[in-house]
Parts: sequence; structure tokens; C-alpha cells
Amino acid sequence: MEVSANNFDRLWEECKNDYIAAVAQVGESGWYILGRQVDAFEKDLAAWCGRNTAVGCGNGMDAMEIALRAAGIGCGDRVLTTPLSAFATGLAILRTGAEPAYCDTDEHGLLDPDAAEAALAADSSIRAIIPVHLYGQLADMPRFTAMAAARGITVIEDAAQAIGARRGGRGVGADGHPVAFSFYPTKNLGAIGDGGALLPAHADMDELARSIRNYGQSERYVHEIVGLNSRLDELHAATLRLAFLPRLESWLDRRREIAAAYLSGIDTPHVTLIPGPDPKAAGWHLFPVLVAPERRAALLNHLKQNGIQGGLHYPVLIPEQKAMTDRGAPVIHGTLSNARRFAQGEVSLPIHPYLTEAEVNHVVETVKDWNG
Ligand SMILES: Cc1ncc(COP(=O)(O)O)c(C=O)c1O
Repeated sequence: MEVSANNFDRLWEECKNDYIAAVAQVGESGWYILGRQVDAFEKDLAAWCGRNTAVGCGNGMDAMEIALRAAGIGCGDRVLTTPLSAFATGLAILRTGAEPAYCDTDEHGLLDPDAAEAALAADSSIRAIIPVHLYGQLADMPRFTAMAAARGITVIEDAAQAIGARRGGRGVGADGHPVAFSFYPTKNLGAIGDGGALLPAHADMDELARSIRNYGQSERYVHEIVGLNSRLDELHAATLRLAFLPRLESWLDRRREIAAAYLSGIDTPHVTLIPGPDPKAAGWHLFPVLVAPERRAALLNHLKQNGIQGGLHYPVLIPEQKAMTDRGAPVIHGTLSNARRFAQGEVSLPIHPYLTEAEVNHVVETVKDWNG
């Protein structure tokens, strides 16, 4: 049996009629950039997230950069974030001209609020915090909101992996912070191509974000700021809205079912499960487990021998990537010991809405069979 990390064949089989109908609508409309489809998707996405507006853009990294810039972050500012994330999180900070600063994660692999408090106390140049909702688990937003409010700094949620995730009854963006989403194909809401969106915190930020994504234009042929070309395509907006967003809730339910089956079924001393802070409500974009660093290759190999594709999220911490170290010593507050445990010992098991029961059982049995 082959169990891959994603199964786009099954996704296409289920969604293709809606997808092709959406493509036809765009083709027939004769309007391909920033038209009715983007407008309609932005409205539906904002409503789905319980927010007033959304701004579609080219990808999740641009959504982060635009959110940071629209929140006033730029040269001379420091932005505190987790070292354990997709490199795009750090890169988006750099692209604004700001400098990333890092502190450790907690036992779930999420930015640790205690470490963040200590970093803020030690470093008054930090102007923003980016908690990343890694693996589809929500970071401790009440704590981050409170510590940022106490210092008058900004919080921006990197929710690339966490659309629809909840923790303690509260969803992504519940505190009104700017939020960035990615619609990279593997994400919980994925396009067939690149896409992203941000949820602005207020009307001025919305206006600025719309300008930044479109060459910094305030009105036609008037460029008051240096912007990007980072627009969500009409095609992606239409297909996301008509083929994928209506399925998102049931996809999330299925991810949660699979996570529950793994959490209850994988019972072995060689593997540490990471249930996260609210396993029943998380977005379960990925299903991480931890093993002894020196045994990780053996587990990946055991999975492979049994037809299962394991993943690593993420094997190199962002501040340890050459692109970061080449710029000088990265700003690190405290130790990164929890984050490093994940970088060295994490393995992601397949989790996606099109896994069958037999495949889920095969993953459970294969991991249980591994003798460490
Ligand atoms: C946590 C996180 N942030 C940002 C991004 C960037 O998103 P994109 O690939 O759409 O630019 C990703 C996706 O790769 C991600 O997982």
C-alpha cells in the first residue's frame, strides 16, 4: 500500500466539475485580474473567518510581507518570531527591511509565550511578534495579545498552515490581529497554484494592503508608495471560492478524525506524539511526532519500506539557514532547545482529507511495528 503525504488525484476527482465550471466563469467573463471573482472570494473568505475584509495576494509569503508593511513594520524594526517554521516566515520579515529576532518554541513546537515575554523585556527594539500556527495548531493568542498590548506593539498571525483552526473555542484571527494565509496546494485550503490572502486589522490597513499588492497604486497611475505585484488571480479566486472553500469545513473534520485515530492508535515507547494544545479543534495541517534524533532516519526508512511518505518540518532552524547567517549573527533570545528538538527529531506522518480508513490503519500499524 502506498500512502503519500498528499493525494491530488483524489482531490481532483472529487472537485473537478466545480473547478472547471469556475474556470469557465472566469474565461467567459473576459476579466482576468482583480475583478469580480477576487472581490467575491475576499468577501466569502472574510465571512468564513468572522472578519470584515480579506485581501487576496500572490502567495502566503507576500501576504505576510504585505501584512507587516501595512502594519507599519520596516527598516530599523525588529520582529520576534519562531525559529521553527517555513523559511518564508523569516524571509517575509527581511523583505520589509526589518530584522528577525527569534526565541524558543514550547513543547508543541509553537512560539513559547514565556520565551517571548523574556525577549520583549530584554529587547526594546522589537516592534512586532509573529506567532506561527505551526502544523495547524494555534499559538497561545491570548498571551501574545496581552504582552503586545502592554508594550503597544503589533501581533501578526502566520496562519499559512492553520485556516479554520481553533483553540479554547477561539479561531484564527479572533483577537482582530492581521492574519496571513497561504493557498499553496498542500495547505488546508490549497489552490492549484500559488495564492494567499491577509485579513487586515482595520480599514486603513485594508486600503494600504490593497495598494501594496498592486504596485503601491492609490488610484490608476498614481503610485505613492513602493509596492509589489502580488495579486490573487481571478482564476484562483473563482476556483477557491466555488470548488474548495465550500469543502473546507468537511476537509477539516476529516483531518481531525485522522489525527484522533493516530493519537489513540499510535501507542509505542519509541515515538512521542504531539497532540498540541487543543487536539479536537486544531487544523491538523501536519501530524508531527518526535523520535530520538539518531533514530529519525531509521523511522523514515521504516515508513518508506512500508510505502508511507514521511516528512520533516523543519530540519533546519530559520536563523541557521545560510541566507540568514550570511547577513551577520542572527538575533536570538534565550536558548532554542525545544525548537532544536523538533528540527532534529520531528517526523510528519501523512494527514490529508483523502486518506482512506485502510491507509490510516496502515500508518498506525506501521508506526507501532517500528522497534525504535
Ligand atoms: C508557516 C508558513 N508561513 C508562510 C508560508 C509561505 O506561504 P507560500 O508558500 O504560499 O508563500 C508557508 C508555506 O509554505 C508556511 O507553511
